[in-house]
Amino acid sequence: MPLSIIILAAGQGKRMQSARAKVIHQLAGKSMLQHVVDTSQALDPDQIIVVVGHQSSQVRESMKGQGLSFVEQAEQKGTGHAVQQCLKQLNEGNDVLVLYGDVPLISIATIRNLLEAAKGSALNILSFLPENSQGYGRIIRAADGSVRAIVEEKEATADDKKIQESNTGILLIEGSKLRQLIGRLENNNVKKEYYLTDLVKLAVQDGLKVSAILCADAREVNGVNDQHQLAEVESRYRQIQASLLLKQGVKLYDPARIDVRGDLQVGSDVEIDINCIFEGTVKLGDRVRIGANCVIRDTTIAADSVVLPMTSIDQAVIGSQVSIGPFARIRPGTECADGSKIGNFVETKKTTIGAGSKVNHLSYIGDTQIGREVNIGAGTITCNYDGVNKHRTIIEDGVFIGSDTQLVAPVTIAEGSTIGAGSTITRDTPAQKLSLSRSRQITIDAWKRPGSNK
Ligand code: UD1
Ligand code: CA
Repeated sequence: MPLSIIILAAGQGKRMQSARAKVIHQLAGKSMLQHVVDTSQALDPDQIIVVVGHQSSQVRESMKGQGLSFVEQAEQKGTGHAVQQCLKQLNEGNDVLVLYGDVPLISIATIRNLLEAAKGSALNILSFLPENSQGYGRIIRAADGSVRAIVEEKEATADDKKIQESNTGILLIEGSKLRQLIGRLENNNVKKEYYLTDLVKLAVQDGLKVSAILCADAREVNGVNDQHQLAEVESRYRQIQASLLLKQGVKLYDPARIDVRGDLQVGSDVEIDINCIFEGTVKLGDRVRIGANCVIRDTTIAADSVVLPMTSIDQAVIGSQVSIGPFARIRPGTECADGSKIGNFVETKKTTIGAGSKVNHLSYIGDTQIGREVNIGAGTITCNYDGVNKHRTIIEDGVFIGSDTQLVAPVTIAEGSTIGAGSTITRDTPAQKLSLSRSRQITIDAWKRPGSNK
């Protein structure tokens, strides 16, 4: 049966103590709602409808261009009311899955279990066993195990409250049954809300089969209402990512101290030291080693390369057997060929570094093309910006740049050139020659150091 997914995301989230809508708060580099949408997309549904209310324009804006439908729920009159707003948009004949923008860790596997278990039931609830069921709707089962009702905390009797099995809120219902039942929801309860959970008793009244399956891991269905819960969910997310890496054979020096905020793809025998953050899509080849406290985003690093501690790498392509850092800042558009080396306190941007070339210490290299087997001395600066435009520096194969040199772009240092230390190079240099610009050293014979006046 084709699937429609409704994601409830209209709530305000007052307890977040934030000006931003709750569901767009970030969890591991993307919004909570984006996590739920990504999980939804993986199920290949016919349609995804997001119910928005509080700060709806902000929420829509953050989710645009993903083929989602949005439904406005101007006033939040309950979860049943929220789903009701979607009826017009719902494609006829589909099964309907209800998810929540503030329950971001729900897994594809659990939803697949729910879809599987739903066969033969008109309505299927995902339940769980929380450590403390206070505040949750309780699942009331008949002797044969079928579900009779969900009783909300506010309406629960003392006996109901003893039931541990609780409602996650996530449910699956046949579209035709949803249309049959939802108009009959009433708000004659303590909260004066239209409860989605009342679908259960309406279904039972109509003689329809209602079932519930347990979510094996209660941590998947934790909702986020405040910053504490968001931090807990973030920590759980971190554990899940670390455990996936360990399963793939990565050596993590401490699985509790790695943040994967995106997609980290790894070869074999990769090692990652503590406190590293990976953002966007990062690919690490076989035997790559990452030192402590590195931040790496949207970057590919080929086999046998090493990134030493405190290094930041953003949108770079790193070859094999490359060494970077410690304390390097590799900015977008940096490409390091095999066997090249970038050392401490070096910043690069829009720069290609040829095979075997070295920029070992204290340099800024921007908008530069460096050939093979080049040595860039300590303290070399490419002066690529004249205040208005950026200009390129070209350093050909086999060049040796002496320390403390400024290369004023646009400039080309021809093959095999040697640049004397301390030079300011403003014109292209000829191949295989020594070029330097340096005032002559003099000695003043008659000079005397000033003495004391006393
Ligand atoms: C709901 C369930 C309860 C379950 C619990 C799990 C109902 C009546 N109760 O209770 O059985 O144990 O979740 O956490 O469904 N929302 C809207 N529009 C509305 C109302 C809510 O979009 O008009 C969204 C909220 O933003 C929130 C979610 O739906 O993300 C759940 O609503 P909430 O009011 O928090 O329900 P609970 O009382 O927690
Ligand atoms: Ca809630």
